[in-house]
Amino acid sequence: MRVLIVGSGGREHALAWKLAGSPQLEKLFCAPGNPGIARVAENIAIEAEDLKCLTDWAVREKIDLVVVGPEMPLVLGLADSLRAKGIKVFGPGKDGALLEGSKVWAKRNMKKWGIPTAEFAVFDNFSEARHHLSRFYGGPVVIKADGLAAGKGVIVASGPAEAEQALYDILIGRAFGPAGDRVIIEQCLSGEEVSVLALCDGKELVMLPSAQDHKAIGENDRGPNTGGMGAYSPAPIYSEALALKTRQDVFLPLLNGLREAKIDFRGVIYAGLMVSAEQLNVLEFNVRFGDPETQAILPRLKSDLLPLLVAAAAGDFNQSAVEWLADPAVCVVMASMGYPGPYEKGFAISGIAEAEAAGGGSVAVFQAGTALTNNQVVTAGGRVLGVTAWDKELPGAVAKAYQAVEAIKYEGAYYRRDIAYRAL
Ligand code: AMP
Ligand code: GLY
Repeated sequence: MRVLIVGSGGREHALAWKLAGSPQLEKLFCAPGNPGIARVAENIAIEAEDLKCLTDWAVREKIDLVVVGPEMPLVLGLADSLRAKGIKVFGPGKDGALLEGSKVWAKRNMKKWGIPTAEFAVFDNFSEARHHLSRFYGGPVVIKADGLAAGKGVIVASGPAEAEQALYDILIGRAFGPAGDRVIIEQCLSGEEVSVLALCDGKELVMLPSAQDHKAIGENDRGPNTGGMGAYSPAPIYSEALALKTRQDVFLPLLNGLREAKIDFRGVIYAGLMVSAEQLNVLEFNVRFGDPETQAILPRLKSDLLPLLVAAAAGDFNQSAVEWLADPAVCVVMASMGYPGPYEKGFAISGIAEAEAAGGGSVAVFQAGTALTNNQVVTAGGRVLGVTAWDKELPGAVAKAYQAVEAIKYEGAYYRRDIAYRAL
């Protein structure tokens, strides 16, 4: 099979790394990829949002399967464009991508389809939205821009002043452009967050093991939110009973709802859940693999990933069981000092090969924000590397991951030292 992965981050490197081991693979490409991905695939210099170039290229190169990493190309309609040319795609069309592309659409349908989620109201007018804040009696409240806002569109406000500022920034200041034409004001939930992903062929689901992400930049979950500073899988809080409940209360109603709406969803559905003593609520759906959750989930997959993605793309899961390793995995993200604010780029990175070699086959360093300058891998983004390790028990996996992190050097390297602490 000739396979094209679209994207250039740590998630795409993890996908490429796993797919590269498939006996069914003939040739792997990635557009645009990164220097880490280049070790297992041929990088193609086409941007992930250039729908026309990607489609033309995939037709010309007789690609059998396209795996779309990020949400933006899906929301723009990349899967539709490829399918119109008869190419199999792992990733939903524009219709299914609304689940992530419009939070208003997603929340309204969650209500309609009986999926548990926080109470909410939708506004496109600042003064009406501000007026609504009084219902929260000065307590915390969550403000969300409707559209895609590069992970910055959700503000968990501690009180009305902060909430009003967020409403002003989005509706009047146009901080997110048209993605902020509408806002959601939502009840603030408490509990523990879990990411649960399921592959979908349009009719059936294959649930993946759970993962937990660390969104805040600082230790003990302090400071501003990032794209994710680390992850581990499985999440101990995600018991067998909770898995059953998630399937029954979240994924099956979602599947029915999608069917009702005549949406043939072929890809992965990511449910961000908030779990407390007796309650399970959906915070959000994404229509792609999580980053960095994928880096912690895929090393645990014993089965071949390629036939699974092909089956989902073909709308036909074969019944073969998917096997997972019981061993937990941990991914520690190494970032650039200053991220998620401004940071410098272009620092030489050393020690990646040494870190992997010392890991004895259970350490993988997934590259995210890197570039190649004069044959040297350098920093080129906020999240630079996803240093991943797995072991029989979580403490061993954590120790191995941090050993690998310490072997990797670049100027301004920043990472959290408490990844997976909640599970230890
Ligand atoms: P989202 O982009 O929807 O995943 O939101 C980003 C983060 O905001 C989530 O991972 C949660 O930490 C937080 N969040 C979103 N909605 C709520 C809510 N209703 N209550 C509390 N926290 C929330
Ligand atoms: N790690 C969070 C996300 O992928 O949205």
